[in-house]
Amino acid sequence: MNAKYSKESLTVLTDMVLPGETNPLNNLFGGELLARMDRACSISARRHCRRIVVTASVNHVVFRKAVPVGSVVVMEAKVSRAFRSSMEVYVDVWIEDRETGERTKANEGIYTFVAVDRTGSPVKVPEIIPETDLEKERFDGALRRKQLSLVLSGRMEADNATELKALFN
Ligand SMILES: CC(C)(COP(=O)(O)OP(=O)(O)OC[C@H]1O[C@@H](n2cnc3c(N)ncnc32)[C@H](O)[C@@H]1OP(=O)(O)O)[C@@H](O)C(=O)NCCC(=O)NCCS
Repeated sequence: MNAKYSKESLTVLTDMVLPGETNPLNNLFGGELLARMDRACSISARRHCRRIVVTASVNHVVFRKAVPVGSVVVMEAKVSRAFRSSMEVYVDVWIEDRETGERTKANEGIYTFVAVDRTGSPVKVPEIIPETDLEKERFDGALRRKQLSLVLSGRMEADNATELKALFN
């Protein structure tokens, strides 16, 4: 199975915030944002492995900036690292100014997807080749984040999370 470049999984979703998708402050409802991020990451993971993918974990989400109704929202998702059957996918969320086209970072999320066959059993995925500085930084941190997610979900003993523990030593 040939390794693939991170950029090959790039998925850009551009959409608007409509009134029915907001909270009482007229900003995009958090759950709606999470669903859109999940969708972008899912397409990205599928582009990388060309298999059925399922969300295994939402590892981290930062709501930095509220997204007002009427905003143009741009999501850029890319696979940052692939393991055996799982893939870490990073999504950056931007608000695009409709007049100037200038983008402001609003949000960021890290998801884990697993490639599965038609019976739902995990299958192998190609490795990732990071190229840019940011891709390399995210690739390097992905094993620690995977270990943290496995420890938090009770799938790994903290003592076995070697790379994660090294952060604190
Ligand atoms: C995710 C799922 C396929 C894992 O299946 P499993 O039988 O537990 O398989 P495994 O233990 O072999 O885990 C498969 C991979 O997922 C990874 N994984 C599982 N849970 C994880 C978590 N919480 N965080 C990070 N990685 C996780 C494992 O480390 C393994 O990675 P690797 O193969 O790259 O080393 C299964 O739990 C599932 O189908 N969950 C429901 C998914 C779903 O319905 N999502 C929402 C709708 S899409």
